[in-house]
Amino acid sequence: MKKVITSNNKLDTINLGKSLGSILSIGDVVTLTGDLGAGKTTLVSGVAKSLKIKDTIQSPTFNILKCYFDGKIPLYHIDAYRLEEVNKDIGLEEYIEGNGVAFIEWPIFIKELLNIPHLEIEIKNKGNDKREIILKSNDKHYVEIIRRLK
Ligand SMILES: Nc1ncnc2c1ncn2[C@@H]1O[C@H](COP(=O)(O)OP(=O)(O)OP(=O)(O)O)[C@@H](O)[C@H]1O
Ligand SMILES: [Mg+2]
Repeated sequence: MKKVITSNNKLDTINLGKSLGSILSIGDVVTLTGDLGAGKTTLVSGVAKSLKIKDTIQSPTFNILKCYFDGKIPLYHIDAYRLEEVNKDIGLEEYIEGNGVAFIEWPIFIKELLNIPHLEIEIKNKGNDKREIILKSNDKHYVEIIRRLK
């Protein structure tokens, strides 16, 4: 299943994140791909809003993992970019399919951990504020989530 959603501005992307956050449940895994500044973190900030997380969501690039525990369910925001050339065995599997929802930027660098059902989101910059947001999964649970998203 694949769905393409057009975002015309930052708020559209935040709102999509909000809808997604209201549908996700504990253990869900979402990967985010797209160029620098595509809007990956912006989408996660919408998810955080719907989970009633008050902390500001920032790109975890220098942290690899950021955990937010002050919402309805834990949110784990992983940025695997810095794991490109190092030992990836740092225990991230505890957070992926763990006791919260996991969002993973640069999933390509930890693909050995992602041999599990998950929702793939790709964000393409179409110029100015326009983005094409592509949601994909073959897994029944995530196909249902994609169906429910507007
Ligand atoms: N339609 C849109 N959706 C999301 N962000 C948008 C949109 N239009 C413009 N923007 C701007 O694009 C930027 C997206 O930044 P964001 O940090 O979310 O990107 P990112 O994909 O996480 O980048 P990085 O790879 O650097 O972490 C923000 O400055 C935001 O205001
Ligand atoms: Mg980011």
